[in-house]
Amino acid sequence: MVKLIRVDPLSPRREDIEEAARIIRAGGLVAFPTETVYGLGADAFNEEASTRIFKVKGRPADNPLIVHVSSVDMALNIGELPDHVVDIAKRVWPGPITFVAKKKAELPRAVTAGLPTVALRCPAHPVALRLIEEAGTPIAAPSANKAGKPSPTEASHVLEDLGDSIDVLLDAGRTFFGVESTIVDVTKEPPVLLRPGPFTLEELRSLFGEVVVPSFAKGLGEADVALAPGMKYRHYAPEKPLVLVEFDLKLAVDIAHEKGLKVAVLCMHDKCVEGDVVLKVGADLYEIAKNLYDSLRKIDRTNADVAIAPTVPEQGIGLAIMNRLRKASGYRIARSAEDLRRLL
Ligand code: TXA
Ligand code: MG
Repeated sequence: MVKLIRVDPLSPRREDIEEAARIIRAGGLVAFPTETVYGLGADAFNEEASTRIFKVKGRPADNPLIVHVSSVDMALNIGELPDHVVDIAKRVWPGPITFVAKKKAELPRAVTAGLPTVALRCPAHPVALRLIEEAGTPIAAPSANKAGKPSPTEASHVLEDLGDSIDVLLDAGRTFFGVESTIVDVTKEPPVLLRPGPFTLEELRSLFGEVVVPSFAKGLGEADVALAPGMKYRHYAPEKPLVLVEFDLKLAVDIAHEKGLKVAVLCMHDKCVEGDVVLKVGADLYEIAKNLYDSLRKIDRTNADVAIAPTVPEQGIGLAIMNRLRKASGYRIARSAEDLRRLL
């Protein structure tokens, strides 16, 4: 059974961090908050512990983990970053950005899924940073959800998915951004955006100049999926169908009703109409990102037959929101009333 430890997100108690760090060093699994989502951590150099992560999550073995570090120096022991990327890392870390680099250290096969590269990230959450420092070892951690489910943005989500099979859960309340880190492959020149996140494409371009954005990173299709192994799996999806609606939401609700379906409406920005159930996601892009996964989890607890959501502008963190919404909808996107009649 999991040991739940409540910690203050900004100044966790020393003995709580020490206890969790001991579990990591002993080969246990610790779920911990980051500024993006909760992670499920193990000592990145422990083969057995990192293999257990895959089992507990039900994660396919070909989907590698992100290795979390507490400094640029720790990252440089594990991966090779070109000099200009080291300079950038020093400016943006700790922060919600992951670099895919050439692997240097001998890591367990499970962690990198046998790839010659490794994903490195230094999280900007006091609890995560102190845990890595105290453990004295990099921590391999995917998001702490069952494979396919939305990532956990609060401790109750972790308990719901993995409560029976992990050792410790550090509960620091809700995470700050709510969507996973931006992933950039810096083994390529120009670098390639593998997953949009809170560190925006606009910011990336101001640092790197050119950045390549494959269509799948925008969430536009399943092409090029081999680049980031994790992007090809069904993700973030509620059990009930979710349709993205690019036209008048009120008309969309009427169409669902014509078909005898109860509708849950995800309200975003000022796009909100009455449905059988209304889930308020947020009034601005940051609030939408923060609440998105909790709202997706809530869809399944409503009595609705189908959920509909508007689209958001693909600027700033909006690119990440649309990437996740497209996946969560299984690419069911209705541009017109006819589209929706066909999809329902
Ligand atoms: O914000 C985050 O990044 C969170 C927190 C816990 O840090 N972690 C997270 O991990 O989202 P996960 O495992 O859910 O997603 C990691 C993604 C997967 O899509 C995986 O395929 C990709 O990173 N990845 C890992 N190593 C890679 C590599 N060497 N090359 C390309 N993609 C890689
Ligand atoms: Mg994940």
